[in-house]
Amino acid sequence: MTVTVAATDLSASPESVLRVGVVGLGMGSVHVEAFQSLPGVRVTALAGKEVERRHQLGSQYGITTLLDDWSDLVERSDIDIVSIAAPNALHHPIAMAALAAGKHVFCEKPLAINTEEARAMVDAAITHDRVLDVAFNHRRRADVQYAKAYLDEVGIGRVYHTRASWKRRAGIPGLRSWFTSKRMAGGGALIDLGPHILDSMLYLLGERLVVAVSAVTHGELGRAGYGAMDRTEQMASDSGTFDVEDLASALLRFDDGSSATLEITWASHAVDDEDITIELLGVDGGLRLFVPRYASDGTLTIYRELAGRPVAIAPDVHVPGGEHPLVIAEFIEHVRSGEWDQRRGQFALHRTEVLDACYRSAVEGREIRLEA
Ligand SMILES: NC(=O)c1ccc[n+]([C@@H]2O[C@H](COP(=O)([O-])OP(=O)(O)OC[C@H]3O[C@@H](n4cnc5c(N)ncnc54)[C@H](O)[C@@H]3O)[C@@H](O)[C@H]2O)c1
Repeated sequence: MTVTVAATDLSASPESVLRVGVVGLGMGSVHVEAFQSLPGVRVTALAGKEVERRHQLGSQYGITTLLDDWSDLVERSDIDIVSIAAPNALHHPIAMAALAAGKHVFCEKPLAINTEEARAMVDAAITHDRVLDVAFNHRRRADVQYAKAYLDEVGIGRVYHTRASWKRRAGIPGLRSWFTSKRMAGGGALIDLGPHILDSMLYLLGERLVVAVSAVTHGELGRAGYGAMDRTEQMASDSGTFDVEDLASALLRFDDGSSATLEITWASHAVDDEDITIELLGVDGGLRLFVPRYASDGTLTIYRELAGRPVAIAPDVHVPGGEHPLVIAEFIEHVRSGEWDQRRGQFALHRTEVLDACYRSAVEGREIRLEA
């Protein structure tokens, strides 16, 4: 593939219009709406396989360049940014081609399906001097933001252990679709939900480095035909692939001697519906984020001792939802800032390294140490 690097200096004028090409029509439609809502940003091209949906989004948002395949979009000269919301295995080829063509890249999580591909993407962002950002929208939840501010401004003493989990009763997205094909998704529940919960955890912990992991994975329910996100899908799915895990459990060791446990299930018989938990255990206090069924209130509790007695504080934090537009607005700010050194996907790379090491650990049945 021949590539040319665009000469336009996108940081030069904050008034200049940034033109975006979006790949993918599922989560991609959320990207389109978020980009279109920003001043000085316009979605000029859209690629995706579903013809009707493509035309519907095109007419809804006034996008005239509608394409079937990402390869026809990434090198277009009328695009400054490529936004990727395609199946996980396509993140790497799309981003590599886009970066080499001089585009900034906004990519859905996970950055890539393995460390090697993720590292190549970060290297390409550095080589071609472009922004590579990943959609870590969960950390933008109002309760996570409040927790982060509390930890930074008040603190709970040294956090020596963290318990994190994301559990679903029946939440396998697209049973026997690309989501449950190792080749297309890179894995199952762990690579799908893991990037979010790991990102929120590492963000709250101030970017501690994971140095070792020990993990197990199981794919019992999906293989047995249980656990699809809705029953119609479950009943209609009599073909296709399910060669990934629906449960992953891991012990992580950090560079400062602290630790964390992580449990992720797409499906399990002992959960009411769905809940997300992050519990930080500090020497002087604790902090618990518990989000059952995507609750938007009452999700945060801070535990301390007051006059020798335990107290639990429940800050009044409302989570309005819709975090994607915040992340996309932040990405546009980064592009306009011209200060791109810290925006080459480095944080996302570490999250991919951790998840990748978990998969290796599960296969090899031993603890895996991450390279320094
Ligand atoms: N950040 C979040 O909260 C969040 C939520 C859901 C999905 N995601 C991520 O978004 C990505 C997409 O997931 P989804 O739920 O939208 O899946 P989806 O199956 O609904 O959409 C995938 C899209 O990719 C398109 N596509 C596939 N091959 C293509 C090609 N060769 N050229 C152009 N388009 C192509 C499909 O036509 C489809 O429109 C995944 O990486 C997923 O992990 C993130």
